[in-house]
Amino acid sequence: MSEPRAPKRLFIETYGCQMNVYDSERMRDVLGPLGYTVAEKPDDADLVILNTCHIREKATEKVYSEIGRLRAHKERRAAEGKGMTITIAGCVAQAEGEEIIRRAPEVDLVVGPQAYHKLPELIARVARKSGEQLATDFTAQEKFDRLPARAPDGVTAFLSIQEGCDKFCTFCVVPYTRGAEFSRPIADVLAEARALADKGVREITLLGQNVNAYHGGAAFTDLLSALAEIDTIARIRYMTSHPIETTDELIAMHGSEVKLMPYLHLPVQSGSDRILKAMNRKHDGAFYRDIISRVRAVRPDIALSTDFIVGFPGETEKEFEATMQLVNDLHFAAAFSFKYSSRPGTPAAAMVGQVSEDDKSRRLAVLQKRLFEQQTQFNASQVGRTLSVLVTGTGRRSGQKHGRSPYLQSVHFDDARARNGDIVEVHVTGSSQNSLSGEVSSLVRA
Ligand code: SAH
Ligand code: SF4
Ligand code: F3S
Repeated sequence: MSEPRAPKRLFIETYGCQMNVYDSERMRDVLGPLGYTVAEKPDDADLVILNTCHIREKATEKVYSEIGRLRAHKERRAAEGKGMTITIAGCVAQAEGEEIIRRAPEVDLVVGPQAYHKLPELIARVARKSGEQLATDFTAQEKFDRLPARAPDGVTAFLSIQEGCDKFCTFCVVPYTRGAEFSRPIADVLAEARALADKGVREITLLGQNVNAYHGGAAFTDLLSALAEIDTIARIRYMTSHPIETTDELIAMHGSEVKLMPYLHLPVQSGSDRILKAMNRKHDGAFYRDIISRVRAVRPDIALSTDFIVGFPGETEKEFEATMQLVNDLHFAAAFSFKYSSRPGTPAAAMVGQVSEDDKSRRLAVLQKRLFEQQTQFNASQVGRTLSVLVTGTGRRSGQKHGRSPYLQSVHFDDARARNGDIVEVHVTGSSQNSLSGEVSSLVRA
């Protein structure tokens, strides 16, 4: 009888946005049936996948330095008679294609975001040392049709409902790396949501680059209503949405649909109208402020989150001040902020008036200081309130649990009875910049 074969080890490193987090999970789903188990470190993995992000220069450079580190492990394993298949997936794979293999010959496969359903076949070809090393030209629909069932590992899950983007903001690579905007048919989305619910998922976050522009045979709000009808799904979120796709119906729904969580991630990028125009954002500051005041009218407690870019080409000190003014006026519960990064091939890269690194760094520090203050303040304002918390895991100490508030804050509390997936009422007694703590006042089992 032959020796039982050691399980094959898979290591996936995920960079970038939630779309990549979703894709990495689906790659695990694709590879599970081939006998791959997840490794904690790349050192001893038979298959290493870097699921990459192209959004800023730094993100792309990280990929090449990581490949450099992997080369040493690959060589060591080869000396031991073992192989290591290095796969580059995600947006750098899509953007740079074969250039990656030219620059880093130790890379075995380059797989774009619409082609990872082909991984089993591609890996087999590497083993046979034959055939294409590049798979970047598939459609999103073909991928979704061929992906296996989901195997969620918790009570919260991402669900990708839309791919790509047609907005062409002048700074952004996404329309080039993820392709044209495509919405999955509503029946497919609902089937995936029901399958997640059957496996214990209680909170679903719908994903897309402009998720509120969804048009998969139904409006976005119709999709939200249909999801809300799935009994055991208690909470629905969505990201990222675009201001110009924020309909009156969606705003109204924040006031009427109890399962829709009071959290809105709505990137604004800048507070200056001239910069917004140069960015091709298709909205100005007044338009954005109007949306926020209408959302707050129906849901006054909503947690508002956003993205900013500082130092876009031509941004003056005064224009940066307009961004600070917007922050001061609107109060954000959370935000992501970045220094503008010039991306080859995008219109902004060729604009005159590129801002110096020093100015960008200074502006970012000023902005982030204010945003962190607002986040800390928002968390502190929950102290004394009782919040519904979805239990997501256990802490290190016995009885210690953690969960998620409606406002996406992580909450720590002690309760021996609470199980993952329960929703507990927690009286908040403490807060920090990143989390809340409190005591359970009642437990509701699903
Ligand atoms: N689709 C989303 C965001 C996609 S990328 C939207 O339209 O808002 C996530 C964030 O990265 C963007 O909101 C933007 O703030 C930032 N970003 C994108 N391109 C960038 C660049 N070239 N330099 C710096 N930040 C960038
Ligand atoms: Fe990029 Fe703009 Fe599309 Fe968002 S909307 S992904 S920032 S091009
Ligand atoms: Fe990055 Fe691609 Fe997402 S470029 S931000 S991983 S869509």
